Amino acid sequence: MREPRLLYEEIRDVAVRLAREAGQIVRYYAGRVTVREKDYNELVTQADEEVQHFLTEAIRRNFPGHAILAEEDLGETQQGNERTPFRWIIDPIDGTTNFTHGVPPYGISLALQHEGRTVVGVVYDVPHDELFTAVRGGGVYVNGVRACVSSTATLREALITTGFPYREMGHLEEYLEALGRVMRATQGVRRPGAASIDLAWVACGRFDGFFETGLSPWDVAAGMLLVEEGGGRVTDFHGRPNPTFARQLLATNGRLHEALCELVAPLHHVYV
Ligand code: IPD
Ligand code: CA
Ligand code: CA
Repeated sequence: MREPRLLYEEIRDVAVRLAREAGQIVRYYAGRVTVREKDYNELVTQADEEVQHFLTEAIRRNFPGHAILAEEDLGETQQGNERTPFRWIIDPIDGTTNFTHGVPPYGISLALQHEGRTVVGVVYDVPHDELFTAVRGGGVYVNGVRACVSSTATLREALITTGFPYREMGHLEEYLEALGRVMRATQGVRRPGAASIDLAWVACGRFDGFFETGLSPWDVAAGMLLVEEGGGRVTDFHGRPNPTFARQLLATNGRLHEALCELVAPLHHVYV
């Protein structure tokens, strides 16, 4: 087999092309979508479905046999050879609520896992036309320019991003307690509205940290690799690594990790 890194770089180039093409579909639908509610406050549009269909078809053509895990229930998840070591994790539109209101950011998140480890991550912020890419071991790039996490060393100087609960409110008290602790300790907190882009913005040093519960693998797989390749750290709220499927995510520039982990302690037992 070829040097895996070269193979991953080739696959990244295909993923970048597909993300940009998918971005055109999203742009076409911006401002003219019909919104459906899959569940309470869980929106889907024909753009989400069309983008997912486009991406899964293209991946199947380019990489026959690779497995696919994608958000929308179009009978496309887990397709491919069960024994393949390769699996794509796709969010066709991350930030659908923003998208339906015409509020940036929102975008496409594509990750490739090889033997259970994410090796390629691509996040495309459509309204800002910003493409974030990483290959494991090769650093993180924003529109082709190398980037890295911030060097912020104290919470007092930190800007933190999060996702407010908006579907499941059973643990709102704990969330508000954690949020209050973070608000008191830092320069401020933001809620942009797309987890993959929160992570991309940590990876390139705009935010110093991110926390959210209840996230799915398609929200985080690509963005986690971006943060790690930018020199940051990603864990669950207990400090455990590889939280792709953990439904709890804490990402920081590394220097602030333990301090932010301590602040979100009220959410230790929350996974929704
Ligand atoms: C959502 C966004 C949002 C986060 C939610 C996700 P979707 O993804 O990433 O920022 O707070 O938890 O589900 O539904 O727009 O793909
Ligand atoms: Ca998502
Ligand atoms: Ca989505």
